[in-house]
Formats: sequence, structure tokens, C-alpha cells
Amino acid sequence: MKTWITIIFSGLLLSAHASAGIVEEKDCGSCHRLHPEDAEKVFTAPDLHYAGNKFQPKWLKQFLKNPEVIRPAGFITNSGFSQIANLSPHSSYTEQEANTLTDILMDLKISTLSPVTSEPLSKGLRAKIKYQFERTFGCISCHQSLNLAGKVRGGISGPSLVNAGNRLQAEWVAGWLNDPEVYMVKGRMPRYKMDPTTLSQFTRFIMTLKKENIK
Ligand code: HEC
Ligand code: HEC
Repeated sequence: MKTWITIIFSGLLLSAHASAGIVEEKDCGSCHRLHPEDAEKVFTAPDLHYAGNKFQPKWLKQFLKNPEVIRPAGFITNSGFSQIANLSPHSSYTEQEANTLTDILMDLKISTLSPVTSEPLSKGLRAKIKYQFERTFGCISCHQSLNLAGKVRGGISGPSLVNAGNRLQAEWVAGWLNDPEVYMVKGRMPRYKMDPTTLSQFTRFIMTLKKENIK
């Protein structure tokens, strides 16, 4: 009995170790922050220590197999501003590697997020938020999104939101809009004080942005 327990237990340890090994082998941590306690190290890529709060696993896996540019101009890390144009294209990984990496990244969480409603916006409400997104708050001056004709438009100083509805978790979007400091202490996005209703409507609007709507 004891031997069996030992065998099962060391088997578990071994498989946990083998899958964590891939992150070291591929050196993800040399560019990305993977643990909250790694605040002192210098990073040259966006933080991933809350990947499990932020991303949809299906998108993550697809990205790792076939990476795309998310931040067309560049991004800020604790080592300053990195221009995308100066970086080599992201490495891509096999189906099996992408599966293992996705499982590992989805376990990286720093917060418990409150549930949000996924109730779709009425047509009228969607038009209202779209107007606010473009005009009142000017989100579009920094973020790419889709116009009424399904064409990509918008500024490039922030991450593209063209595929946000497939890429991000709704709860995370609401959390980000409510309190971005939880995720990024010195970000460049203006702080918006949205009331809970506006926040929920913006979140639902952002979740409708999907690359399959590009015409
Ligand atoms: C040489 C540095 C480097 C290494 C090594 C690296 N990455 Fe990246 N990664 C980047 C950069 C730069 C970006 C930002 C690309 C963009 O925004 O367009 C990025 C983006 C990402 C994203 C998307 C993040 C987001 O916010 O959309 C994921 C997920 C990711 N990397 C995972 C990984 C994993 C997993 C590994 C290891 C298997 C890895 N990366 C190794 C530089 C690196
Ligand atoms: C002045 C430029 C600017 C404006 C205006 C702006 N943002 Fe941002 N936004 C950013 C930047 C830059 C980031 C990336 C984080 C950082 O560096 O602070 C970001 C991040 C985000 C993210 C997270 C995306 C990701 O992949 O990490 C969302 C969602 C977002 N913004 C939504 C909005 C919404 C909604 C508005 C309008 C209410 C808005 N932004 C207005 C610059 C802006």
C-alpha cells in the first residue's frame, strides 16, 4: 500500500515537473514576468503572471501555435518602452507544446474576479456604447477596433481590441476597466471612473469585438 502511494505520488511530482520544464526549456521567463514575486527582474515582454485571469484558453493555444501582433506600436514593461518593429517575430510552438503551455499559463492567477453578465447589449445600447467608445471616451484613439463596415480602424498605441471578444475574459476586462493598477501600476491608459452600469456595458461591448467580424 505504502509503495503504491509512493509510486503514485512521485508520478504526480514527475509529471508536474515535466510540464513546468517546458517553460524553462523555452525560456518564456527571460522576456515575460511569470510570477508576481519577480518584480525586481527586468522584462522585455508583457506580463503573463496573471494570464489565467486574462486570456481565453482557446485563444492562448492558437496564439502559441500561430502568434500574431497584438501591440502594433509596442508596449511598456519595467525596462521601458519596446518598439514592436525592433523585435523578432514571436516563436511558435507545436500543437502539443501549445497545449501544455496553455495549461500552465491558465494556472497563473493573481486575483479572484467578480462574475459579469454576458447578456448581449440591445442594438440601441450597443450603438450608444460604440459612440462613447469612439467619441466620448476616445478609446479608439489608442485601440484598434472595427467600424460599422467591419474594417479595422483606430490608434495603435494600445493593444489591438479587434479580437478582444475571443482573446480576453469578460471578468478580466471589467476588472481592468475598474482598477487597472491591480495589473499594471504604471500603465499609459487614462483612468476612467465608470459607474457600474457603464462599466458593464463597456465590457459587453468589448466582448462583441471579434476578428470573424472583419469584412
Ligand atoms: C524573446 C522574448 C520572448 C520570449 C522568449 C517569449 N515571448 Fe511571448 N511575447 C514576447 C513579446 C515581445 C510579446 C508581445 C507581442 C505583441 O504584443 O504583439 C509576447 C506576447 C506573448 C503573449 C500574448 C500576450 C498578450 O498580452 O497578448 C503570450 C501568451 C506569450 N507571449 C506567451 C509566451 C510563452 C508561453 C513563451 C514561452 C514558451 C513566450 N511567450 C516566450 C516576447 C517573448
Ligand atoms: C491614451 C491611450 C488610451 C486610451 C484613450 C484608452 N486606452 Fe486602453 N490601453 C492603453 C494602453 C497603452 C494599454 C496597455 C496597458 C498599458 O500600457 O497601460 C491599454 C489597455 C487596455 C485594455 C487591456 C487590453 C490588453 O490586451 O491588455 C483594454 C480592455 C482597454 N485598454 C480598453 C480601453 C477602453 C474601453 C477605453 C476607453 C474607455 C480605453 N482603453 C482608452 C491605452 C489607451
